Amino acid sequence: MNFRTIIEPFRIKSVESVKFTRREDREAALRAAGFNVFRLPAEDVLIDLLTDSGTGAMSALQWSAIMQADESYAGSRSFYRFDAVVRDLTGFTHVIPTHQGRAAERILFHSILSPGQIVPNNNHFDTTRANIEVERAEALDLVIPEGRIPHVIHPFKGNVDLAALERVLQEQGDRVPLVMVTVTNNSGGGQPVSMENLRGVRQLCDRYKKPFFLDACRFAENAWFIKLREAGYADKTPKAIAQEMFALADGCTMSAKKDGLANIGGFLAMNNDEWAETARNLLILTEGFPTYGGLAGYDLEAVARGLEEVVEEPYLRYRIRSTEYLGEKLIAAGVPIIRPPGGHAIYLDARALLPQVPPLQYPGIALVNELYLEAGIRGVEIGTVMFGLHPDGTEAPGAMDLVRLAIPRRVYTQSHIDYVAEAVIEVAASRAKLTGYRIVSAPKALRHFTARLEPLA
Ligand SMILES: Cc1ncc(COP(=O)(O)O)c(C=O)c1O
Repeated sequence: MNFRTIIEPFRIKSVESVKFTRREDREAALRAAGFNVFRLPAEDVLIDLLTDSGTGAMSALQWSAIMQADESYAGSRSFYRFDAVVRDLTGFTHVIPTHQGRAAERILFHSILSPGQIVPNNNHFDTTRANIEVERAEALDLVIPEGRIPHVIHPFKGNVDLAALERVLQEQGDRVPLVMVTVTNNSGGGQPVSMENLRGVRQLCDRYKKPFFLDACRFAENAWFIKLREAGYADKTPKAIAQEMFALADGCTMSAKKDGLANIGGFLAMNNDEWAETARNLLILTEGFPTYGGLAGYDLEAVARGLEEVVEEPYLRYRIRSTEYLGEKLIAAGVPIIRPPGGHAIYLDARALLPQVPPLQYPGIALVNELYLEAGIRGVEIGTVMFGLHPDGTEAPGAMDLVRLAIPRRVYTQSHIDYVAEAVIEVAASRAKLTGYRIVSAPKALRHFTARLEPLA
């Protein structure tokens, strides 16, 4: 029988209660949080779609691997297991564990960047951009034009604009120390990058003699999209596709909090011996000895097992379908979202939904906050608050004003997702009453995490 219903490929052994609150409770909590949902106590959130990072549920096999971990400071057995799994998957010779993705970014960029250099990418994630800008280098986004228009359908909206990349390499190549590609493209809507496009980037990197690094946080979700959408990949396993993606690159940064299916962890991996040595020395300064890099032995075990589970077909089929299921419900109700739905999240187009709120009054924040007040759901603004403040202190509208509803891995069931769809549709129906916000106080970098805001009306 060919059943149409794609079920969760697991059963639940341990549960965690969620807290139901009243609207007046949520109003008080949001006010106390300076109208910034990052500052809310998670206990006051019913369904937490703030991020898919570190929020997944681990499997029984991961928990049992944790119990068997070796906590030796140097040369832990758990490190060798972690190292073997990462090397088998990526093929890179040097595997440097870090406590999460941004630590890998910081170590890589601090080791190799000089002021005035340029790092091209499809879209840099916020921490990637910040870690480049702190070195006084430029983070340059070169996603294809379709990737910047929420309603335009394209199977690989995360692709790099190869002509634009070639122009940069031709005209300013001496300022480019490496090229990056983010799979999937989180800041552009969790959209995948095709193997053909990765191959194109590789060819340009070969021609201009530049190293090519993947930001591989969601490599398995990207591999699944390639399997579904790209000619010639339907019969390949997700792992084989992932290995082919990594084989095109010279290294990667990785947050294992996403497709490592772990609550913490990450790594920097590469083939360049010299860069690896510099990175390991920096690692010792801030993260720890190279065989644990800021992680406990049990974290290394959880990540190693997670990297094996994440490429299993039943998992990826369910994962990508459950995100698409939410997207389909919202599209059917006429809610503007980035289309087609991405891998780990649905991105609501707040700028299109709230034309009465100009970008510099933060339509994404208006929508995020109303979703929380109405239904106890926490999403995140990916727009002008996150990206609008430039290093010189000026502010301009972000490329888009989105609200990301990120779906934690293996955490919520279909009825939770049905509730989310109902709530978003309700809030969209009452959109005329929503007004903008202003920032009361904020730090100079990564302001979205801690800024305090207030409603304008
Ligand atoms: C594409 C991308 N790169 C890098 C990171 C940073 O990883 P971490 O949060 O583990 O520091 C993230 C996290 O959300 C991400 O989505």
